[in-house]
Amino acid sequence: MQKFLIFWKRQIMFKKSKIFFDFYQPLVKKYTLHFFGLFLMPIFWCLAETFAPYIIKIVIDDLSQISNQNDSYVINILVRATTIYIILMLIMEVSLRLCNVIWIQTIPILKADIKEKGITIFQSQNYSFFNSHLLGDLVTKFRSLSHSFEQIFSQVLYGIYPTIITAIIVFCFILSINTFFAVFFFFWYCGMNFITYYFAEKSIDLAGSQARVENKLTGHVGDLFRNTIATKTFWSHGLDKIITEKLQKEDVLISKKLEWLNFRTDSLRSLSSLIMLALMMAFLAIGWQKKWVTLGDFSFITAACFYIRRSAWMSSVQLLFIFKELGIIEESLKDLSTSKIQLNNNLQSKKTGHIVINNLCFGYDNAHSLLKSVNLEILPGDKIGIFGASGSGKTSFLYLLLRFCSPQVGSIKIDGADLDKLSKQNLNFYIAYVPQQTSLFHRTIYDNIKYGNIAATREDILHVSKLANCHEFIERLEDGYNTFVGENGVKLSGGQRQRISIARALLSKAPILIFDEAFSSLDTNNENKILNNILKEEKKSTFILISHR
Ligand SMILES: Nc1ncnc2c1ncn2[C@@H]1O[C@H](COP(=O)(O)OP(=O)(O)OP(=O)(O)O)[C@@H](O)[C@H]1O
Ligand SMILES: [Mg+2]
Repeated sequence: MQKFLIFWKRQIMFKKSKIFFDFYQPLVKKYTLHFFGLFLMPIFWCLAETFAPYIIKIVIDDLSQISNQNDSYVINILVRATTIYIILMLIMEVSLRLCNVIWIQTIPILKADIKEKGITIFQSQNYSFFNSHLLGDLVTKFRSLSHSFEQIFSQVLYGIYPTIITAIIVFCFILSINTFFAVFFFFWYCGMNFITYYFAEKSIDLAGSQARVENKLTGHVGDLFRNTIATKTFWSHGLDKIITEKLQKEDVLISKKLEWLNFRTDSLRSLSSLIMLALMMAFLAIGWQKKWVTLGDFSFITAACFYIRRSAWMSSVQLLFIFKELGIIEESLKDLSTSKIQLNNNLQSKKTGHIVINNLCFGYDNAHSLLKSVNLEILPGDKIGIFGASGSGKTSFLYLLLRFCSPQVGSIKIDGADLDKLSKQNLNFYIAYVPQQTSLFHRTIYDNIKYGNIAATREDILHVSKLANCHEFIERLEDGYNTFVGENGVKLSGGQRQRISIARALLSKAPILIFDEAFSSLDTNNENKILNNILKEEKKSTFILISHR
């Protein structure tokens, strides 16, 4: 009993899980009417489905009541029964098809909404979130937000919900026949479900663990595929295999545990429900002898109980599936932060890029500090260089300016506004960044450069490409600016990728330009040309350059 209470507490906790409801509720709310329709239709087909064996009961009762069966009377009864049966089948078909139509009208759009919200939420996560998750893991989590929702919903709508409705209707029918058997049926049905729920808590835990391991495995496989150069140039298959095998073993172990739990639950439910069913049939036989029930009642109650027993078994399998999908969704949503900072969304009209850094302290963890009490003022138009040993914290300093990380102590202000309070749009308009590791999309060169400023014209794009000294090599490519660069620009050389990144940054016309080792893959000739172009063209911009040279 205590276990049962803990389970329900968990359920309520899960229901209260703010992040889960925050995510789905506003999306589902938009389709309240559609959902009403979706949940209304099964009532009709369940009524029709349950009424069919009831007709057989009526036929049996009618036939057993007449002693001298004349053919036309029997045919009359059978024709009437068949007609009603056909009408019921029609009701069933129509309500099922209507349900399908509402589903088609609702679910694909809802799934698109979920995906859109998923992309927005994932993209709003901070930089460290992406650093601490594997790409494959994130993609799986994103996909499961819509996929698992659809799976759960279809199991509920076409499986569990109709079974409960049918059980209620059967209960009402039996109640109209005999109260004792209705009460017996009630306890029998609740008992079967109680056993399923009793073991459910463990199932949810195991399903969650299984989802975690599966995500890890996908993340690991994604990591392997992304590092093709390393896997092809080093004989490390043994190591990769050890990691894969460890995760696979864990997966198999949890799956087996889950299956055994399911087996135990099933066996227990089957056995107890069979005993109850046998008892019910014995009571029915006695009831028929004592004239409490007719032969038709006997046939209806028995058929309904066998049908419900099978449906309850199906429901338990569906429940297990739902628990697994819920575990996956919980796993996907749990790390996502939905906290919103109060942002000043008004676009600053006059951007000069005056940076004031006051008593800045930072470390990736509290025990180790990387930057200690940095005080710095960078005036609009300043051109400054940052030098330091590898690992000294140069890139981390830029990450603070870009708000990828937050200072432990101190503040950064741009044009008098606290960096924390700037909207993403404002921050993006202020700073253009060329990262140490280039970040290009698997799109055309043209689109990659245009990403710096969506309002830019073709002329603007050609102009910045010339400044970044990449126009010539792009023109020499077979598809020119329309060349697809591959994932992260894999089809280009390191220096070509850097020049495209520079062109993209220049296109943004941001008052602050930040270059982090932006010339590391370029020859000095190229570097000098680009630097001269920038100094000539971007006289008013603040230019922060990190370089080892
Ligand atoms: N996401 C992170 N989480 C934890 N530690 C990090 C993270 N990124 C960097 N570090 C650590 O912070 C320190 C500074 O790294 P940073 O990238 O800022 O150095 P850097 O001066 O830019 O070096 P380089 O010249 O080699 O690019 C390093 O010791 C690094 O291991
Ligand atoms: Mg660096």
